[in-house]
Order: sequence, then C-alpha cells, then structure tokens
Amino acid sequence: MIKSPASLLLAAVLAVSALTSLAQQPAQPAADPSAAAASATAPAASGLSAQPAAPNAAATPGPAAATPSPQAPNAVLATAPTGKPDVAAGETRFTAVCAACHGAGGNSGTPANPKLAQQHPDYIIKQLQEFKNGKRPNPIMQGFAAQLTEQDMKNIGAYVGTQKAKPGFARDKELVSLGEKIYRGGAQNRSLPACAGCHSPNGAGIPAQYPRVSGQHADYTASQLVAFRDGVRKNSPQMSQIASKLNDREIRAVADYISGLR
Ligand code: HEC
Ligand code: HEC
Repeated sequence: MIKSPASLLLAAVLAVSALTSLAQQPAQPAADPSAAAASATAPAASGLSAQPAAPNAAATPGPAAATPSPQAPNAVLATAPTGKPDVAAGETRFTAVCAACHGAGGNSGTPANPKLAQQHPDYIIKQLQEFKNGKRPNPIMQGFAAQLTEQDMKNIGAYVGTQKAKPGFARDKELVSLGEKIYRGGAQNRSLPACAGCHSPNGAGIPAQYPRVSGQHADYTASQLVAFRDGVRKNSPQMSQIASKLNDREIRAVADYISGLR
C-alpha cells in the first residue's frame, strides 16, 4: 500500500479542503438569519424555523412569489422569534402529531404512553431536548423530538401545561399500602428518600425541578423506574440513584399508588 506522491498530495488537498469547509460551516448559520433579514420583504423566510424555511423559499421562488400572502401569516404564526411560547401553535402541532399517542390535550388513554396534561412546561422541554440529543434514548420519541425546534418544544410545553389532567385510579389493593409507605416515607434503613419530598405529597411535583407524577399510568411510571434503575434512562442521576434501591415489587407498588394520587 505505497501511495504515490501524487495521491498523497491529493489526499492532503482533500483534507485541507474538508477542514476549510468545516471551518466555514459555523459561519453559514450565522449568515442565514441576517440574509433572511436582509431580504425581509418575505417575512415567511425569517419566520419559519430557519433551516426548512430558507431552502424552500430559495428553491421555489416562482410559486412563493405568486402567492405571498397566504404563506406569510402561517409562517409568522409558526414561530414568534421573540422566543415566547405560543400556546396556540403548540396546540396545533400537538393535536396534529402527538395526540395520536398522548391523547387529546395530553390525556393519554394508553398505559404505555405517558399523560402529559398539566405537566410543567420546563420538564416537557427538558425531556424533548434529551430525546432529541439521545440522553433519553427511546426509539419512538427520538424520531418525533428530532423534528421539533426549541420554539416548537416551548410551544408544546406551554400548551400541555395548560391542559387539565384527568385523574387516575390505583388498582392493586394488595400493593397500594406498600406503595404509599414508600411514596410518603421512603425507607430510612436503605437511605431511600420519600418520593413526596421532591414530587410533593399529592404528586403535583415542584416546578420547574420536579415533575408532576400524580395520576400517571402505572405501567408508564413503572417502566421509567426500571429504565432509571437499569441505566437505560440516563438523564437524571438523582432518579437513577433512587430507583437503584427499589425492587420490582416496590416499583409496581409505588407506581400503582402514584396512579391514584390527585
Ligand atoms: C407513536 C406514539 C407517540 C407519538 C406520536 C408521540 N409520542 Fe411522546 N411518547 C411516546 C412514548 C411511548 C413515550 C414513553 C417513552 C419512554 O418510555 O421513555 C413518550 C414520551 C414522551 C414524553 C416524556 C413524558 C414524560 O413524562 O417524561 C414527552 C414530553 C413526549 N412524549 C412528547 C411528545 C410530543 C411533543 C409528541 C409530538 C411531537 C409526541 N410525544 C409524539 C409515544 C409517542
Ligand atoms: C431528590 C428528589 C427526588 C426524589 C426523592 C424522587 N424523585 Fe423522582 N424525579 C426527580 C427528578 C429531578 C425527576 C426528573 C428527571 C428528569 O429530568 O428527567 C424525577 C422523575 C421521576 C419520574 C419520571 C416521570 C416521568 O414523567 O417520566 C418518576 C416516575 C419518578 N421520578 C418517580 C419517583 C419515585 C417513585 C420516587 C420515590 C421512590 C421518586 N421519584 C423520588 C427527583 C426526585
């Protein structure tokens, strides 16, 4: 495998040009917004989530120019560039894409799909970011989160936060008192803290740090405790520590108790 000087030279040139184009990349996103702003006769271009909008607008100048007015209002609605959450945009997106699994208004009726209604917006945003960046691996949600911008996440978080959660019910009479004991008191001999200390006695959580858990499907809650315990869900060292102290029976018990909290 002796390379000729020519091929070495070629390789070097390719490497340098690759580096150069890498070095140039950061400049491009920076240039885009200003370019969009410069050609700001079309608010559509700057309004949409930068990447999809700009190429489209550039690629289809004819039709876009022919029908500027119907497009512009939509695009502006889709992103308030101020960064403030837009609840109406969140509702539209959620209803179109997410409600199929998470239920109307985030009140999922499917035990494996979490209820999102009334959850704290900051927690929702954190989870969506971490599905997107892989810190919380999940084959289903990673795909959906990948399609969301930061602004979409804010909008959706704000929307589900305004929705009232439908209450759930504990089902396992035998286990529910064990669940209550763990939730309210933890287990001092194993330095297991009471869940209530962070998630609050009625499970409402404490914004923005501690998520609401009350009324959640027991199947989902149990699956998350197992995922924390087994190191599959790695986005909360605190919860991994706590879940590592729970056996399967305790997990089922506390998950059932939580589903009846309100
Ligand atoms: C095909 C079904 C499906 C669709 C569609 C879907 N999700 Fe999910 N979602 C799930 C499942 C299943 C989980 C639980 C993942 C896990 O076990 O970690 C989940 C988890 C979540 C969580 C974490 C909740 C928590 O309490 O930690 C959020 C937030 C979320 N989804 C938001 C969304 C949003 C926003 C959309 C639409 C853009 C969406 N989902 C679309 C199935 C779905
Ligand atoms: C020291 C504070 C603390 C204590 C005590 C605590 N948690 Fe948590 N819990 C958290 C935090 C923080 C999160 C959010 C993790 C994240 O950001 O992904 C969380 C998340 C969760 C979730 C995931 C919710 C969802 O929608 O996916 C469940 C379930 C949960 N905790 C159950 C419990 C149970 C059961 C106990 C008691 C055995 C407990 N927690 C004790 C801090 C705590």
